[in-house]
Amino acid sequence: MNNDLANTIRSKVDIVDIIGERIPLVSKGKNFFGVCPFHDDTNPSMCVSREKQIYTCFSCHATGNVYTFLMNYEHIDFKEALKYLGDKVGIDTGSIKIAKKSTKFDKLYDAYNLSLKYFQNNLNSGIGKEAKAYLAKRSIDEKIIKEFEIGLSLEKRDDLTKLLTSKDYDLVTLNRIGLSSDDHDIYNDRIMFPLYDVNGRVVGFSGRIYKDVDQNKYLNTKETDIFKKGEMLYHYHIAREVCREKKSVIVMEGFMDVIRASTIGIKNTVALMGTALTKEQISLLKRLSNNIILCLDGDGPGQHATEAIGDHLLEQGLEVKVIVLPDPDDPDTYILKNGKERFEGLVDSAINFSDYKMQKMKESVDFRSDEEKAAYINKVIVETAKLTDPIRREVILKRLAKEFDIGYNTLEMRMNSLLEDKPKEEAIVIPKKKSTKKDKYTKAYEQILYFMLNKDWVITQVEKEKIIFPTEVMRTTCSEIIYYYKKYGIINVADFYTYVQDKENILTFLNSILAEDYVEDTTKDELFEYFKVIKEYIKKQEITRLTNKMKKETDPIEQAKIVEKIRKLRLGDS
Ligand code: CTP
Ligand code: MN
Repeated sequence: MNNDLANTIRSKVDIVDIIGERIPLVSKGKNFFGVCPFHDDTNPSMCVSREKQIYTCFSCHATGNVYTFLMNYEHIDFKEALKYLGDKVGIDTGSIKIAKKSTKFDKLYDAYNLSLKYFQNNLNSGIGKEAKAYLAKRSIDEKIIKEFEIGLSLEKRDDLTKLLTSKDYDLVTLNRIGLSSDDHDIYNDRIMFPLYDVNGRVVGFSGRIYKDVDQNKYLNTKETDIFKKGEMLYHYHIAREVCREKKSVIVMEGFMDVIRASTIGIKNTVALMGTALTKEQISLLKRLSNNIILCLDGDGPGQHATEAIGDHLLEQGLEVKVIVLPDPDDPDTYILKNGKERFEGLVDSAINFSDYKMQKMKESVDFRSDEEKAAYINKVIVETAKLTDPIRREVILKRLAKEFDIGYNTLEMRMNSLLEDKPKEEAIVIPKKKSTKKDKYTKAYEQILYFMLNKDWVITQVEKEKIIFPTEVMRTTCSEIIYYYKKYGIINVADFYTYVQDKENILTFLNSILAEDYVEDTTKDELFEYFKVIKEYIKKQEITRLTNKMKKETDPIEQAKIVEKIRKLRLGDS
């Protein structure tokens, strides 16, 4: 791997900008703080340092440089992160070659790729005529078939199972990964839509019936090591870039809706695929955008889901808008019937979720009943109190007062009492780094390593004093720091991160050091205080070792020699 290029690119971007484009950051002192995306939190525990070009979460201890952030946040590999940043600063990364990490799931991905090719072949051969006709009737042309890699499974066959067993897959595996059932294929005579993981790898299928048969409309791959339905969003890997550009993500129910929207050039879309929204899916949505536009089916269940999902997303602090489709359209049928412009119009005029909810509340009220009317007004006030914008609150209350001819003050009083109950929005409290319960020797060693990462003269001193670290990972980290410094002539934490990115143990160790409140700068005198602490540690270790040895020793002369050694060590101890 080319570290020089990685370092050059890194030096041309500011980690504060890159992270700031993805999560809101507030500046405080030298640093920036935001809600850490790597664990479940609402506090700004993540600190981003412009000076050091690294981030550190005080809570989950995630740390790293701009590359690690992008890799973890976007679920991409190093090469992709490098390319992304290279493009941003106009540096060509095309020549970079990085050995692909193999994973224990490679064989699974391969099986799914083979299956994909097999299904695509079927659809494009003579046997796929009827399926093609069905797709054509639904206005799915060759271009879409290709783009979304649509295929076909065959009627009551075992061709795929045979193909895969001939490639060294055993039946037990094929059954486990959801491609075969006993010794035949699981999917029979269905149009096959590949499902992708966040990185765009095929990890499952959804097969749709296309003949008039009495079977479930869709059959999905069962949960496997690489396919968890509740942890995916259809089209995520494509939507990722587009959502950043459009600054919003449109959420739909089915993948047919997403495919249709794509044909009219709307690609900042994902599909839930018929599950209740999970925690994992919310976290994926957050990565796409803070502005969520719900565009679920126009039927009863769709409206119901809009309310439930909207509430959920609002609680997570996201901006939620709603596109209301006429019952019983879904985005797919609406676009087919009304075309591109009309649908774009709907997207542009999406309404705020709170307005949508109030509209819905109104629909079921019998306004001839005073009780129902009062209950309705109360509910509207409760919803309004949830809004953070005081101007919007006032607008709604004024409208309500006018509509029902009630004094504005009465409504305001009611709302204010609700607002008082609500926990106040606190000023941002930046959490302090917590000092963990490591003993003073461990701390001294770690502090020395941390100095080495920040001040090159410390590296020279450590070498000169021949400091030996007590654990394997400390020793390798130390020698990597020395090696890095000799090679590049400078040291900085951010680039060192890139350098050790494949060394899992060092990375974990670095994370644990950065989570502590070690200082960066030191003087020579101070450094020697630290050296003193660790020399004392080494002496203590030696005394313990000798004491044990002495206890085991049977020869009194040898014993006396050891006692003398211990005495000498202790003398130098004072
Ligand atoms: N779904 C499923 N199993 C079913 C029905 C639906 O897994 N029996 C999932 C599918 O992923 C589908 C989504 O739920 O994409 C939405 O369902 P639905 O609205 O019924 O699908 P449509 O997109 O309308 O499909 P089509 O137009 O082909 O009928
Ligand atoms: Mn639908």
